[in-house]
Amino acid sequence: MSNVKTNFTKRVLSGVQPTGGLHLGNYLGAIKNFVPLQEKYESLFCVVDLHAITTWQDPGDLTQKKCEVAAAFIASGIDPNRSIIFNQSSVPEHTQLSWVLNCVARMGWLNRMTQFKDKAGKNKEKVSVGLFSYPVLMAADILIYKATHVPVGEDQKQHLELARDIVLKFNNDFKKEFFPLPEPIILKKAARIMSLRDATKKMSKSDTSEFSRISLMDSNDEIDKKIKKAKTDALPIPSSIELLESMPEAKNLITIYSACEDEDFEISFDKYREKNFSELKVDLTEVLINKIGPIRDEMKKLISDKKYLLGILNNGSEKAKNIASHVLKEVYDVTGLN
Ligand code: ADP
Ligand code: TRP
Repeated sequence: MSNVKTNFTKRVLSGVQPTGGLHLGNYLGAIKNFVPLQEKYESLFCVVDLHAITTWQDPGDLTQKKCEVAAAFIASGIDPNRSIIFNQSSVPEHTQLSWVLNCVARMGWLNRMTQFKDKAGKNKEKVSVGLFSYPVLMAADILIYKATHVPVGEDQKQHLELARDIVLKFNNDFKKEFFPLPEPIILKKAARIMSLRDATKKMSKSDTSEFSRISLMDSNDEIDKKIKKAKTDALPIPSSIELLESMPEAKNLITIYSACEDEDFEISFDKYREKNFSELKVDLTEVLINKIGPIRDEMKKLISDKKYLLGILNNGSEKAKNIASHVLKEVYDVTGLN
């Protein structure tokens, strides 16, 4: 995807849901990649609580979960003095724009969203309307800041494409080049981290088995146990990457290793070709403990200081609102609502 119009300020926005239990997939696929972007772009990182409530969330837990996401951002290296870290529902312009975009997006486009189909499953008639229009709110999150770049894991690519379709239609209906076409930033290295129990499914918060994921709050012992128990193939690691393609568990473990080590997949694969899984698992455990351990310790420290975290979120919301209110006014102008 290319052709972001150059007359827009380069701006990054991404979001993570406060649904509890952030995991290695969230970190390697998304949060880790936010960090270097703040050097190059004006960046906003959002705790998307309105997305979280598209499925039931216990009201008593929500503040704690928001603090956990803010803590994960900061512990991973996002600098609250440089980037805007904020909470979605504190900036009502997201929902205001979302309604306008609901009137631009077409039912047919939303009907094609695979995440909705996956999450709704056989329960399509009983899930919330919010779960269906979720991608439109996501488009509003991005467009209310006229963000040009959106770092996400690969599972969000289709939602980004929908946001681009909305931009094209909006610009065509109202005013050429009003919104920029947002570009996804998806790093190939860790685009999709798979479940440790079934590498054909993505690692996810909603998997019922704790052993399917490494949580960012796991102790070193838990990391060790989970990697020991991680499913492997009966055969040793093969001799070529082509053969690895038919061994999803092996591929996943090497993907995790290479993403934690920040090295090319091919180089990591080379270290373990034709070796036994036990050797890979011992090294992977060490690498994971080195990577996740310090983040977990910092997260714990931050979470114990809720006042500090809520202060960061409030301050971020103020700054975000400054941009968002201006864009919303422009939207109301071009659509004739003002
Ligand atoms: P989840 O899908 O677990 O509910 P979120 O919706 O909060 O997580 O996603 C936060 C970010 O983490 C998104 O950018 C998403 O693409 C990324 N992400 C989630 N799961 C994975 C995974 N298994 N591998 C890579 N990235 C992931
Ligand atoms: N839908 C994203 C996810 O599940 C979270 C999200 C909400 C988001 N709004 C966003 C990501 C805006 C990027 C930009 O992972």
